[in-house]
Order: sequence, then structure tokens, then C-alpha cells
Amino acid sequence: MKTVLSGIRPTGNLHLGNYYGAMVNFLRMQEENQCYFFIADWHSLTTHPDPRLLHVNVRNILSEYLACGLDPEKATLYIQSDVPEIAELYLLLNMHAYLGELEKTVSFKEKARQNPGNVNAGLLTYPVLMAADILIHNADYVPVGKDQEQHLEMTRNYANRFNHKYQVDYFKLPTAYSSGQELIKIPGLDGSGKMGKSEGNCIYLVDEPKAIEKKVKSALTDNGPEAPNTPKPVCIENLFTLLKIVSAPDVVAYYDNLWVSGATKWYGNLKKQLAEDIINVTTPVRERINDLKNDDAYLRKVTRNGAEKARESAGKTLREVREIMGFKSF
Ligand code: TRP
Repeated sequence: MKTVLSGIRPTGNLHLGNYYGAMVNFLRMQEENQCYFFIADWHSLTTHPDPRLLHVNVRNILSEYLACGLDPEKATLYIQSDVPEIAELYLLLNMHAYLGELEKTVSFKEKARQNPGNVNAGLLTYPVLMAADILIHNADYVPVGKDQEQHLEMTRNYANRFNHKYQVDYFKLPTAYSSGQELIKIPGLDGSGKMGKSEGNCIYLVDEPKAIEKKVKSALTDNGPEAPNTPKPVCIENLFTLLKIVSAPDVVAYYDNLWVSGATKWYGNLKKQLAEDIINVTTPVRERINDLKNDDAYLRKVTRNGAEKARESAGKTLREVREIMGFKSF
């Protein structure tokens, strides 16, 4: 069985793009692999979150993960800061992480440019902490998006460097998880190709029906087909893509025929239908999220069990790493 690991920073909420993309993948992975899913609260510290919000954010994302179907009986679900072994491995790996390569990391350069007043050492060594997250469980696969590929490559470098330096074949070289199936890409409501939190075009799982109606209503459209049988522009194609995901096939066919016929003045109806069907999908999830958020006893149980399982695996790795590096107790 392969070990798969994924981390998420506790910033923002899950949106439809996450729900039909990464989440679908996670649910499949937890059936077939040894999975570690964790909330990277240490990573979120680079931007100094308000202490009053840190815990709330962790609680939110944990409730969302659980509501989407991540199963603490199947996968190990934990909070990064509950596993101090990660911090120690981070310290040890830092000795093998060179300033020159850290400074060249694309994500670092971007953040440093966007926020020149806050170029802290945690930001610089962000990829080392991520490597510690992954190597602490000696993971085989990490499902990563494009923006995290370089970090994964750096993880392989550190693993490889460690193995070389100490003449061992200890760390595996983790690779990007590919499900073999194309991930569904959820388009944005603004005519852009992708729903994403930095694009500000998202429908969140926790959005109330009224908010969803409003967002869908204001989605970008054109003036309608100019003639029968013309190709759809991107903004209209996007609405149809969403419709195909949340609505019944006959509904999609109905609106598709309207487009093909060249008729106009039906976008309002389409949007009403789309909003209704999105609300039907998200309502049970939103209700589960809100129930979980307030279920202290359950969240405590999940995080304690998760931390315990994670620390068992992390502790084993750390003991072996210490020994390889020459630490010995008296
Ligand atoms: N850096 C990742 C992100 O911003 C979050 C993360 C932290 C992560 N540690 C990880 C992802 C380990 C995968 C594996 O999205």
C-alpha cells in the first residue's frame, strides 16, 4: 500500500472547485491508500494571522474536510502543530537547505515582491517545512497543484541529499500523485477558466442560498447567440460546464437547444436553475459543516486520535533519522 499525504493551509473556505476537484480525489485515495491529511497551521504563520482567528480557521477547514467525507477511520487526519516531530525534522533538514536555492524558489520570490516588508525566515524556509511534512511519514505520493510542484521537487532534493550525505537509502523520493483521471476543473463565474480563491470568483460550500443566488445572477454573460449554431463564448461555456455538473441531463439539453436555436433572453432562467441546483448540492454539505463546527467533543476526538496516529509514524521516522545522523542517548 502506498502512502499519500496532503496539507492545506487554514486560510479561507472550500469552494465548489475544491469540492469537485481535490476532494473527489481525496475520497478515492482514502479507500486505496494509507492517507495523511493535515491542516498546515504552522505554514499559515508566515503572514501572522490574528491569534483570535487561527483556531477558528483550523476548526472551519477541519469541519469542511469532515463534512465532505474525509473519514478519520480511513485516513489520518491531524493538525500540523499537534505533531512536534515535524518541527524537529524541519530543524534537521534546514542544515541541508541552502540559502541560494531557497532564495530562488518561485513562491518565495513572488511573496517577497508582493510583501517586501515581511520577508521573514519562515517564508524563506517554507519549502523545508513542507519537506518535513512529507518526509516525516516517508510519503510516496503528494497530490499537488502546479503552484506546489517546485516545493515537491525541493523535497526530493532534500531527501536525496540526506540519503547521499549519510550514505543511506532512507527517504523515498516523493512524487506528484496522479489519479490517472483528469481532475474536473470548475470554471469561475467571471468568465475565467478556473474557480479559485485568489480570483475572487468562488461559490463556497458554506455560502447561504441567498448568496449563491446573487453570485450566479451576477455571473458574466454576453448578449445571447448572434445566430443559430454559433460556438459558445467562454463565459457561456462556463455556465454550461457548471450546469452539466450540478443539473440533470435533460436540463442541460434544454438550454443547449436554446443556444443552438439562436434564441435569446433565457440566460435569466438558466441562472435561476443553475443557482437552484447548486443550492441543492451544497445545502446538505453546508448543514453538516455547521453542525460539525459546533461539535467540540467530536472535533476533539478526531484531532486527538489523528495526532496520536500521526505521531506514531512521525516518531518512528524521527528516531531513525536521529540515529542515522549520529545522535545517541546516554
Ligand atoms: N504549501 C501547501 C499549499 O499552500 C500546503 C502544504 C503544506 C502542503 N505542507 C504540505 C501540501 C505538504 C502538500 C504536502 O497549498
